[in-house]
Amino acid sequence: MMVITSPGEMTRFAESARASGKRIGLVPTMGFLHEGHLTLMREGRRQSSVLVASIFVNPTQFCPGEDFARYPRNFERDCAMLQTVPVDIVFAPEPSAMYSPDAQTWVEAGEITSGLCGPHRPGHFRGVTTVVAKLFNIVKPHLAVFGEKDFQQLRAIQKMVRDLNFDVEIIPVPIVREKDGLAMSSRNAYLSPAEREDALALSLALRAAREKHRAGACCAEEIEFAAIRVLKRMRGVAIEYVEAVDAETLARHPSLERPILIAIAARVGKTRLIDNTVLQP
Ligand code: PAJ
Repeated sequence: MMVITSPGEMTRFAESARASGKRIGLVPTMGFLHEGHLTLMREGRRQSSVLVASIFVNPTQFCPGEDFARYPRNFERDCAMLQTVPVDIVFAPEPSAMYSPDAQTWVEAGEITSGLCGPHRPGHFRGVTTVVAKLFNIVKPHLAVFGEKDFQQLRAIQKMVRDLNFDVEIIPVPIVREKDGLAMSSRNAYLSPAEREDALALSLALRAAREKHRAGACCAEEIEFAAIRVLKRMRGVAIEYVEAVDAETLARHPSLERPILIAIAARVGKTRLIDNTVLQP
């Protein structure tokens, strides 16, 4: 496994891999890897002959007051985990190599980022789509793997790829969960043992929503309410939003005749957690 920190060197490597007919897969991450990330890596491995994992805690997707400085990092451990996949290249640039001080161009996906996490994290999604566009230009992948854990992020990237004609196939991977149902996340490392218990409310709320849907809910609001009821029972959990939206467009007031996304964001102590599930008609 080779570690590359220079974008120029990464591009030269990618160009020669492409010239020799290799299929390049990219899995972008911010590191502090867990089994969810590794599941994406294994899917990437299956579908590509050169697998690149990027580790870059992207400053432009953190809003003022968010956890950029204290975001968990452990490069040595990440590399050891990536070696088990195995990954061919770890691309781990410094922020100064990715953003020149006079950079002014942004990539924004529009409408799809206006709801759900959008209003709660102003500037977040344009930071994500901008860095992913840059990673696509640097790594030149044929395919890139993203988790459904960050469902709105996945939709924003799919939109960007279509709107800007990126020649990259986007491969979605379902959410990987702990045994008890908690969606894996690098931010779970922030949780105290008591908060870790409270955090279960998110997946339990999604389960309640699923049951309400299966039992024949009249409308999206009834499904949202089933989830909210579960979250409100847990005193350590502060709801940011619970929304049932169209799973394609992320528009509100979805038709139950189409797949719908139930998405939750909540704070457990100081930690912001998200989770979601898609319900088929
Ligand atoms: P990060 O939070 O490190 O996540 C990297 C990738 O792993 C994302 O595609 C995310 O959806 C996926 N992932 C995380 N937890 C998962 C889980 N429990 N199950 C399945 N997939 C999971 O998302 C980012 O980084 C950044 O925004 C990034 C795309 C790298 C741009 O900076």
